[in-house]
Amino acid sequence: MDFNKNSNSKTMKAVVVTDQAAGIAGMKLADRPIPKAAINDVIVQVHASGFVPTELEWPSTWANRTGLNRAPSIPGHELAGVVTALGYGTTGLSVGQRVFGLADWYRDGTLAEYVAIEARNLAPLPGDVDFTVGASLPISGLTAWQGLFQHGRLRAGQSILVHGAAGAVGSMVTQLAREAGAYVIGTGRAADRQKVIGFGAHEFVDLENDVLEDAGGVDLVFDVIGGDVQKRSAGMVKAGGTLVSVVGPVEVRPADGLAVDFVVEADRAQLGEIVQRVRDGRLQVNIGITASLDDALAALNPNGRRKGKSIIRVRQ
Ligand SMILES: NC(=O)c1ccc[n+]([C@@H]2O[C@H](COP(=O)([O-])OP(=O)(O)OC[C@H]3O[C@@H](n4cnc5c(N)ncnc54)[C@H](OP(=O)(O)O)[C@@H]3O)[C@@H](O)[C@H]2O)c1
Repeated sequence: MDFNKNSNSKTMKAVVVTDQAAGIAGMKLADRPIPKAAINDVIVQVHASGFVPTELEWPSTWANRTGLNRAPSIPGHELAGVVTALGYGTTGLSVGQRVFGLADWYRDGTLAEYVAIEARNLAPLPGDVDFTVGASLPISGLTAWQGLFQHGRLRAGQSILVHGAAGAVGSMVTQLAREAGAYVIGTGRAADRQKVIGFGAHEFVDLENDVLEDAGGVDLVFDVIGGDVQKRSAGMVKAGGTLVSVVGPVEVRPADGLAVDFVVEADRAQLGEIVQRVRDGRLQVNIGITASLDDALAALNPNGRRKGKSIIRVRQ
């Protein structure tokens, strides 16, 4: 069905945010117009959407690329779903195709029944991979892949310190680094020890009770925590090594190594590598809560700790 034809008269259900100060508690369910496909876009009927808890702190949730206010905006930047329409000039994907991928930070996101998204941000989702699984992979999988292999240049035989290794990004980093032949030291809270070892870490450092520096020097630090943990980690990078941060600019650089901070980018080929590893059992997903769109507001405002990626099943 081509929803572009009558989109003025059609609305969809979506989670929207209008109040930056209110954070996740300010999310509301609302009716929004079904988006239209721009040049090289597709419209995807969202089956499952991933949510990163820090999204509502990102400037791109609130302002467009020219700095103008864009609220009310729809959060959610990961999706798995089915293509329902193609924009002008769009190639490489077809109507009816199962896809998954990473939505543009500055456009309305995926906590909605439909999303307009550039085709290049998406990859085919194999028929044997569930939509919930597909939606859990784009941000955490691509961040791990790019941080390890592009920015961190990890090679077999090297050692890596993975902070927050029980979390959405850290669990992917741990598994991919282990598969690549690295010696993996995962960190986290005391309760995360078994989970991190289960993802393949050789050692675990309990950041609440152990002395981080006792883990010794490493070739690569992959940081998702920042602050004091990151500053202390800089001193653990061996000569020629790298500190990779996904939580903003590095404040203390390794004495004789590189420091890189980056924001993940969409990459169809890398998404293909990641989903293939899930299919053949080399990569476990790390899904915390799943809930319907109607239950999204309560589910995304948990009382306790989040454990892994939060997924909203938009279409049951
Ligand atoms: N630059 C990028 O492209 C990019 C991409 C993806 C994510 N990110 C950022 O990376 C961060 C992590 O994302 P995520 O989705 O992996 O989050 P997550 O699933 O919450 O994982 C973070 C993990 O680190 C743990 N942790 C945090 N602070 C800790 C501390 N002081 N001591 C011990 N453990 C600690 C968390 O435990 P608790 O839950 O108990 O705190 C959790 O297990 C977020 O800030 C996110 O915005 C950036």
